Amino acid sequence: MSLLVEEKLEKLVQGGTETLTKRDLTDALSMGPSIDGLLARAAHTVLLRTLGPGVCPTGIIEISNSCQKNCLYCGLRRGNSTLPRYHMTVEEIVSAIENGWRHGIRSFLLQSGELLGEAHAGSVVEVLRRVAGRWGDEAGMVLSIGELPRRTLEELGKAGAHRYLLRIETSEQELYNRIHPKDGLHRFGARLQCLADLGETGWQVGSGVLVGVPWQTVESLASDLLFLRDRDIDMCGFHPWIEHSDSPLAEYRDLAPEREARVRLTLRMTALLRLMMPDIDIYATTALQMLDPDGPEKGLLHGANVLMPGLTPSKYRLNYRLFDGRTAVPDDPGRVMAAMTARCSAIGRKLMPGEPGDPLHYIRRILSVRAGG
Ligand code: 5AD
Ligand code: SF4
Repeated sequence: MSLLVEEKLEKLVQGGTETLTKRDLTDALSMGPSIDGLLARAAHTVLLRTLGPGVCPTGIIEISNSCQKNCLYCGLRRGNSTLPRYHMTVEEIVSAIENGWRHGIRSFLLQSGELLGEAHAGSVVEVLRRVAGRWGDEAGMVLSIGELPRRTLEELGKAGAHRYLLRIETSEQELYNRIHPKDGLHRFGARLQCLADLGETGWQVGSGVLVGVPWQTVESLASDLLFLRDRDIDMCGFHPWIEHSDSPLAEYRDLAPEREARVRLTLRMTALLRLMMPDIDIYATTALQMLDPDGPEKGLLHGANVLMPGLTPSKYRLNYRLFDGRTAVPDDPGRVMAAMTARCSAIGRKLMPGEPGDPLHYIRRILSVRAGG
């Protein structure tokens, strides 16, 4: 007789190597609160066994809030004419990196809306060249600037970035089509192709999904986990969906789980992915912290190993408004890092600045390719 998911989780805690089936995943996602303690314990045990207690700070710089897309859930969508748009200059971006560098941060995420024009990619290339010229490969750069043509990805790679986050948002095509406009610019197939291009052009690839959007089912979330595993991603972050009052999806909030349930689902997704992919990097996202002030600790206790100190200058930060509720935070990475250090040590973890932060999963993947495995 097959084991129940609780029995499999107990075995994983003991050091076993149980495989979670789609049925196990849907069971774990839909059970009552009694599963939560065990799920967190299993994920945290597997994390400590595989990666240890270290938490890598990845400084996030939101370099522009302009976007050519119009995703129905997002405040940066081009149809949101109430949002003042900004582009940080190359100098401003390098100085934000320098600001993080002074506080020991060595891993940096440059994030923006999606802009296909040459000018945006060109300024990112310029930033990467300057970073490489100044700090060499001691600075680990991550990009999250949307779907780009393969040749632009290659150019960015040559300029010195080697990690890329492209969130699939949902792996279920039907749901994807419901939460994106049908205008030819939001094609599920194109997103999949870009993920494949990233892998083929040598990037460390990250992805992620939105959790708790209207119409999403636990079966769909279970498929997302299997999708991420089958794509052999190196990094992941889950965002609970948060309404943006000027976005069309907000009208359907009654079809989504309550906010508390979205947090719970996001934590369960984090824990399950950790159990399925023990050596990847999992981010505790700012969206999670938005819905729950203890989100970072809870994320870490459910298997996350990356925190994201904000390095966007405060004059821009409030306008990087993906969802409602973004508030001002101190413009001082020293204070942010001190608070993160305290959060980590309160739960027996250790913030490890000074690491460029390549995921162990990637290192093993490359070694196995080189060894012909
Ligand atoms: N709630 C949560 N996450 C969101 N994102 C965009 N809008 C929202 C929202 N309303 C996420 C998407 C996107 C990333 C930049 O932010 O997953 O990939
Ligand atoms: Fe643009 Fe990304 Fe927002 Fe979509 S989710 S509108 S691509 S910033």
